[in-house]
Amino acid sequence: MSPDEKKKAAAEAALAYVEDDMTVGVGTGSTVNFFIDALAGIRQRIRGAVASSSVTEARLRERRIPVVNLNSVDELPIYVDGADEADPHLRLIKGGGGALTREKIVAAVSRRFVCIIDDSKLVVLLGKFPLPVEVIPMAQSHVGRQLAKLGGRPVLRQGFNTDNGNIVIDVHGLTLTNPVETEECIDHIAGVVCNGLFARRGADLLLVAATAGVKTITR
Ligand code: 5RP
Repeated sequence: MSPDEKKKAAAEAALAYVEDDMTVGVGTGSTVNFFIDALAGIRQRIRGAVASSSVTEARLRERRIPVVNLNSVDELPIYVDGADEADPHLRLIKGGGGALTREKIVAAVSRRFVCIIDDSKLVVLLGKFPLPVEVIPMAQSHVGRQLAKLGGRPVLRQGFNTDNGNIVIDVHGLTLTNPVETEECIDHIAGVVCNGLFARRGADLLLVAATAGVKTITR
């Protein structure tokens, strides 16, 4: 099975958690793109979708799925998104696509976070994938110095701005044995908007696609 076939399998498995009349939170990335395509097939049954990025919003609109403003709902029943890494405790690294802040907001508003990945992303310990950190541009040097003090090697994502007009620093080589603590610590650096650790609010359900089929991991 190719990586894309696995992503598609995980994405299609997530449809089983979408019920009639739900407003669905939708993440960002190549795995989620397969989910959006699958969601289009049942668009008559759902109320609409909240997008976690402008790219996702455009794809939802292209597929005639109604886009709902997050501020018009109190809570979302479900959020479906991919990840760059996931551990067996359902803690994640996200933000490879740079949509981490909006993704974290949509996840925070959602009752159930269904994370869809292929098996290459399931790891025992998070941190091989560089941790994305969204930063206010004027704070780039300050935040970089603080991240280096935490033992990481900060690298500016070249030529990239988030949907919020900020920069992303990818942090290599962090030891993430306590991801909840690290998530909080990085969030407290002045100038950091958000970091890609989803440990405080991890996934509720992980759908991991492998050649043998899609495995479900719950907390
Ligand atoms: C975007 C994300 C994505 O979920 C993550 O990068 C995984 O993407 P893909 O499904 O393309 O591998 O966090 O900000």
